[in-house]
Amino acid sequence: MTYRIGYLVGSLSGDSINRVLAKALVHLAPPSLQLEEIPIRDLPLYNRDDELSPVDAVPTFKKAIEASDGLLFVSPEYNRSIPAPLKNAIDWGSRPWGQNSFARKPTGIIGASPGAIGTAVMQASMRSVLSFLDAPQLNAPEAYVTFHADAYADDGSVTDPHTETFLRHYMEEYAAFVERVLSATLPGHEGDADLDVMH
Ligand SMILES: Cc1cc2nc3c(=O)[nH]c(=O)nc-3n(C[C@H](O)[C@H](O)[C@H](O)COP(=O)(O)O)c2cc1C
Repeated sequence: MTYRIGYLVGSLSGDSINRVLAKALVHLAPPSLQLEEIPIRDLPLYNRDDELSPVDAVPTFKKAIEASDGLLFVSPEYNRSIPAPLKNAIDWGSRPWGQNSFARKPTGIIGASPGAIGTAVMQASMRSVLSFLDAPQLNAPEAYVTFHADAYADDGSVTDPHTETFLRHYMEEYAAFVERVLSATLPGHEGDADLDVMH
């Protein structure tokens, strides 16, 4: 069985360390995962007034999320939280009300920082957001990556053996999680996530 995984990079920077990490994860993923980036760069700032007639980038983004079997978030931490471009993308994908594209998608969260705690606080925020959006999350292993440029080669391979083992294991665990979640979702029982929330 092959699973189509959309990955979102939470940085718009041209020399993003999280894009380097994402490239390495694609390189190390088991063959059961087909990873493809879902770009967030062209999304406008979320505005509820534009929900019913958004620019093309919005339905394109939502369709890409919905066409994915699972999602992987590879993101920096900004001021101890989720970078605005990523949160903006998630807000678009969660709307209009009743059309939350993230519902029931198995997700993984990973991120790199030059700092010692490797995006841990951003990831805690993401867990809260994804819980609200009814997206199951890989709980363990957690992946807080302190970025060392010399551990990664341009072709996506990882030159530091410890980093390679850690990231390969993360992707194997994520693949097993995706399979578990999807095999537990009975056809016809996907439900309506929006009926599960009291407002
Ligand atoms: C606005 C801003 C806020 C930041 N806040 C944090 C932070 O809270 N924690 C952290 O570890 N690094 C923080 N950093 C440093 C980033 O980890 C670093 O710039 C990293 O390279 C960003 O990831 P990227 O290269 O993928 O864009 C911040 C950087 C910026 C620009």
